Amino acid sequence: MKRVLLIVSGGIAAYKSLEVVRRLRERGVAVRAVLTRGGAQFVTPLSLAALTEDKVYTDLFSLTDESEMGHIQLSRDADLLLVAPASADLLAKATHGLADDLASTVLLATDKAVLAAPAMNVRMWQHPATQANLATLAERGMRFVGPDEGPMACGEYGPGRLAEPGAIVAAALAMLGETMLSETGACARPLAGRRALVTSGPTHEAIDPVRYIANRSSGKQGHAIAAALAALGAETVLVSGPTHEAVPPGVVLRPVKSAEAMLAACRAELPVDVAVCAAAVADWTPVAAARQKLKKDGAGDRLTLDLKRNPDILATLSQPGPKRPALVVGFAAETEKVVENARAKRAAKRCDWILANDVSAATGTFGGDRNTIHLIAGDAEENWPELSKREVAARLAARISESLDVRKDAAE
Ligand code: C5P
Repeated sequence: MKRVLLIVSGGIAAYKSLEVVRRLRERGVAVRAVLTRGGAQFVTPLSLAALTEDKVYTDLFSLTDESEMGHIQLSRDADLLLVAPASADLLAKATHGLADDLASTVLLATDKAVLAAPAMNVRMWQHPATQANLATLAERGMRFVGPDEGPMACGEYGPGRLAEPGAIVAAALAMLGETMLSETGACARPLAGRRALVTSGPTHEAIDPVRYIANRSSGKQGHAIAAALAALGAETVLVSGPTHEAVPPGVVLRPVKSAEAMLAACRAELPVDVAVCAAAVADWTPVAAARQKLKKDGAGDRLTLDLKRNPDILATLSQPGPKRPALVVGFAAETEKVVENARAKRAAKRCDWILANDVSAATGTFGGDRNTIHLIAGDAEENWPELSKREVAARLAARISESLDVRKDAAE
């Protein structure tokens, strides 16, 4: 069983930490809580103790018996430290190595992965001191989820709201998933019994028997998503154009070449619970592939290819109907106005989520190993930090698993 040490610091959003505990425990994760003096102004030790079914640790000096449970032992027993909400003050202490209460001491003493969900007033968030602290902590390996943007309890508007419990839990599960995958292979399988469909890679659109139109998609992101979904227990089919990527363990590959074949292969796999379209599908295809190799002799100096539009696989899968997956996820690779264009794309294609990323030349995303994602779901937007494509996949898979549970709860 995986163990999270949850540190609850001060702020109006602290009550949401109770929902985080509940959801983590539903996933079979054990949670032990540390409550700061500020946090205790907003949630009671009793409610945290009831939900964690464990003692709540409130102050360094309440650890009466160091041998029973010292601050070192608290972090030693955990697979992940989760700070939610993380106040500006606690993040500042962590940056500077201050250790004047239990929470900051645990953060200084730990060698475990730390995920923080900041929550604070927008001006505190934007203050150069806070931003510098975050940069330092990120450089040292701390990960962050949120904050979200929106109206705040203090009456202002902007970034600073605690990320939604679902997003916090998904990020935590993703980080636990990474350690799970790298350890014994013993792994929580929250997607067991679910079917997932992933498209990946480029498509090849035949011009003649030996030539085709293609693009530079490596298939890395799509294959990693299939791997992450399978690792969480989903029965996963990967419909992929030609790539050099290995087929991930536990994933069924349906290899295709053209967009048309990709759509047919996807349709054949329906119904599924979730479809993730990560393929770089060619927008256009030759009206008819020549049966024989095209000859240049006698063709003159110019050749015009007659192209027609390919089907849009993401839009087709998103069409309402009995076979529509409960969750359809697309990608939007943009070079400008990333979020704005992605929002428009989500509406046009009628998918549920779009993962937008900036592929302008400077980012090196295309064909590279790293990705900075903005997840657009309805009006909500999550800004993920720069992550490896594998980390993006793990976070997305955990997020999908969360969302399918919520949808199932709502349907019941
Ligand atoms: O329209 P655009 O190509 O920018 O949209 C990108 C998203 O749509 C990706 O999720 C991609 O996999 C999907 N797509 C598709 N079929 C197409 C074109 C794009 O599934 N023909």
